Amino acid sequence: MTIVAIDGPAGAGKSTVAREVARRLGFTYMNSGAMYRCVALAATERGAEPRDVATTLAIEPGEQVLLDGREVTALIREPAITEAASRVAADPSVRAALVDMQRQMLATGDWVAEGRDIATVVAPDADVKVFLTADPAERARRRAVELGADRSTVLAEQAIRDERDSTREHSPLKPAPGSVVLDTTGLRFDEVVDRVVGLVDRARGAVEH
Ligand code: CDP
Repeated sequence: MTIVAIDGPAGAGKSTVAREVARRLGFTYMNSGAMYRCVALAATERGAEPRDVATTLAIEPGEQVLLDGREVTALIREPAITEAASRVAADPSVRAALVDMQRQMLATGDWVAEGRDIATVVAPDADVKVFLTADPAERARRRAVELGADRSTVLAEQAIRDERDSTREHSPLKPAPGSVVLDTTGLRFDEVVDRVVGLVDRARGAVEH
């Protein structure tokens, strides 16, 4: 069983890179951020406390995201849910419930898991740990293209979420010990994917020899 952990801030390219790395390696892809988004969506729809719904949900956090069997891939990316997810993710009870679910999933096979705390908290023994980053303006530019939104608005909102993610008391965003920090600012997508796949090959080679 091999686990590849890819953490980093919004817009660093985690999701696209993690998906492609998973495809190249034939591993299963886990989008842990989608799980926080699902909790935010379910709590909003039900008018319930996120911590109360977190333990009751069945979430499949792959390329397509299923919440209790319903396809919510696009819905959870709405701006209101994005903002709510960032607040939900600061709740330690929500984190505990989702980390538990994530660990159970990761115990079954080969995974590429992406998020904020995969290598620091969820899977500190991951075979490969990558911290993907890029400068804030570049991250906002990429996100603005993706969302069809205004770049300066995205940059301002991103700064708020970055600040919340990196200063929160529980599981703040930071590179884990033993992680490879990869700044993607000047790199093409395929170069980033090649480097991560290369790290996985090297880690597996080291185990075999
Ligand atoms: O890609 P983007 O930053 O837009 O968001 P995401 O990765 O889908 O994550 C949604 C929210 O969940 C963010 O505000 C993260 O802070 C939070 N999150 C987290 O706390 N821990 C994770 N392992 C993944 C996401």
